[in-house]
Amino acid sequence: MDNDILKVLYSKSDIQEACQRLGKEIKSYYGDKVPVVIGVLKGAIFFMTDVIRDTDMYMELDFMDVSSYHGTTQSSGVVELVTDISTDISGRDVLIMEDIVDTGRTLKFLIDTLNDRGASSIKVCTLLDKPSGRVVEASSDFIGFEVPNEFVVGYGLDYEEKYRNLPYIGVLKPEIYTNN
Ligand code: XMP
Ligand code: MG
Repeated sequence: MDNDILKVLYSKSDIQEACQRLGKEIKSYYGDKVPVVIGVLKGAIFFMTDVIRDTDMYMELDFMDVSSYHGTTQSSGVVELVTDISTDISGRDVLIMEDIVDTGRTLKFLIDTLNDRGASSIKVCTLLDKPSGRVVEASSDFIGFEVPNEFVVGYGLDYEEKYRNLPYIGVLKPEIYTNN
C-alpha cells in the first residue's frame, strides 16, 4: 500500500498528538455534561476511538453511516442516510465525529437531521478540514488539521474502500485513479 502514496501529509505521531489535544479540548468544553458522541462511519472510526480513549469523562457512543461519494473522488452532491443511530438525542448534547469536511454537504445534512430531532446542542469534531472544497456552509468546532485541496487517504479515509488501515494520512499517486 505504501507504494501507492505520493506523499505523507501527517505521520502516525502527528495524528496521535492531534488526537490527544482534541481529547483535552473536548473534555474541557463539556465539563460535567454527558454528550452523545456520534461517529460517522466508516471514515471516523480510528479517529473517534483515539480521541475519546483517554478523555476520562462520561459519554455515550453511537454511529451513523451516510454516503455521498459512491466510490469516486468526487462528491455526488446527494447525501443519503445509510445507517441511523439508535439513541434518542432529544434534549441531548451531541458531538459529531467526522473524518473530513470537504464540500460541507455531509456535515450540513447531519446537523440538519440531528437538529430536527431536538438535540440541545450540536458540536463537530473533525480530523481534517478542507476549507477550499466548501460548497455549503458548515463549520467544525474541534479540528485536527487543515488540509490542502487534494484527495487524501489513510487513517480511516478511503479510495474505493481501500487504504483506511494506513497508519498515516497521505496523498495517492495520480496513476491510482487513472488506472481505475
Ligand atoms: P463532504 O464533501 O460532504 O465530504 O464535506 C464529506 C465526506 O466525503 C468523503 N471525503 C473524502 N474521503 N478523502 C477521502 O478519503 C478525501 O479527500 C475526501 N474528501 C471528502 C469523506 O467520507 C467525508 O466524510
Ligand atoms: Mg465520511
